Amino acid sequence: MKISNKAFASTMIFFLLILPLTHSFNYQQALSISLLYFESQRSGRLPYNQRLTWRHHSGLTDGLHQGVDLVGGYYDAGDNVKFGLPMAFTVTMLSWGVIEYGEQIAAAGEYIHALEAIKWGTDYFIKAHPHPNVLWAQVGDGATDHYCWQRPEDMTTSRQAYKIDENNPGSDVAGETAAAMAAAAILFEFGDKYRGKYDESIEVVKGYYPSASGYMDELLWAATWLYKASGKEEYLKYVIENALDFGGISWAINEFSWDIKYAVEEKQKEEKLIVEAYKSKAEHYLCSCLNKSSTNNNLKRTPGGLLYTRKWNNLQYVTTATFLLTLYSDHLESSNQRLRCSNDDEVGPEEMLSLAKSQVDYILGENPMGMSYLVGFGGRYPERVHHRGASMESVKEKRGFIGCVQGYDDWYGRVDGNPNVLMGAVVGGPNERDEFNDERSNFRQTEACTYNTAPLVGVFARFNQLQSQNHDF
Ligand SMILES: *[C@@H]1O[C@H](CO)[C@@H](O)[C@H](O)[C@H]1NC(C)=O
Repeated sequence: MKISNKAFASTMIFFLLILPLTHSFNYQQALSISLLYFESQRSGRLPYNQRLTWRHHSGLTDGLHQGVDLVGGYYDAGDNVKFGLPMAFTVTMLSWGVIEYGEQIAAAGEYIHALEAIKWGTDYFIKAHPHPNVLWAQVGDGATDHYCWQRPEDMTTSRQAYKIDENNPGSDVAGETAAAMAAAAILFEFGDKYRGKYDESIEVVKGYYPSASGYMDELLWAATWLYKASGKEEYLKYVIENALDFGGISWAINEFSWDIKYAVEEKQKEEKLIVEAYKSKAEHYLCSCLNKSSTNNNLKRTPGGLLYTRKWNNLQYVTTATFLLTLYSDHLESSNQRLRCSNDDEVGPEEMLSLAKSQVDYILGENPMGMSYLVGFGGRYPERVHHRGASMESVKEKRGFIGCVQGYDDWYGRVDGNPNVLMGAVVGGPNERDEFNDERSNFRQTEACTYNTAPLVGVFARFNQLQSQNHDF
């Protein structure tokens, strides 16, 4: 049958009119892509079922000089250092995502991949904790690593490893690792027994991952997780008894990241007063995301609507906020409650979810640049991610060795896009005016980190479920 020109034209106009309204993203695809990213960040001997094929074995002698097997774990970002604190936070957020949204992740066919991403971290933490009072907190150091631009497979940089122990305590990194391991109660005892900030014990970590908020939040966070994992009252008691001393309920904060976790300690749903105080802190944080803070301590937003904390890797704060907003919205929905931000301002689950969705959709491409900040997703995404491995030809293609400064000379400054797509990476993202400069040297915007993507795994799975229930979502 032939369609008349007029019918054709009106059909096209109809589609043009409804297109902007029905714009929605394929969250299932976003979920699948996001989990690939953890394979590209793997250090150690890659397994037979490695799906991200441009990477190969690396760091196979990590720990050798120290007499300990530290092969494995994750590179946290675009360099080849293994930093314990952000790695543990990544694994904690991945685990939390699976605890809350495991069913939805499974329904999307990604459960095994999510578990593998977690296990790659926990297998390493077990190696890194060879004695009750020792935790290896870092392999490689930022100074020599950043001097080179080398594929992890070619590394010639120092693989100095740093540990915390009785004499060099590091309660924050131990606490975070305990949180990641949860059931490994022994780590927690260790972290608490030898209190001290890990960047005081390990000088070289300063400037990269200094623990600005101190170690108390990691300890409270670990205790909260250990209570959840074990059901042992002693952990809950610890959270409650140390709440005031450690500042868990006296601080007012409006950011949440690998270094500050007071905001989420509302996880304990006990009726006790002190837990209520934790809850009110978490709620204060959510209200500030919603631009409804009673103390006018609101998070800024870009003109395009993105939550904005700071210009270096802003998206890390957005993805963690998105996770909490989604989770809390579900909590309000299932308990039939509303969040009271001030006397005359109540927020329902829909409004909270809609803020989460606006942030996720912004990341996926609904933004003034029309750019997806999830690499590999959509038609347009960053092509010059600040990432050593991705920016150089794969060892599978080019077997020859690429030296320390040779990488800078031959690959770093190239105008061409990276030869390898860093699938699933969430880059630092745009500035406060929604602008994004896709240049390899612009590391504040084009570097990605494992803890940027980790909180989105559960969120994508939940959104995929919501979309399958309601096609307008
Ligand atoms: C946030 O609230 C302030 C007033 O408290 C208002 O001026 C501003 O437009 C709000 N921002 C957004 C993004 O709604």
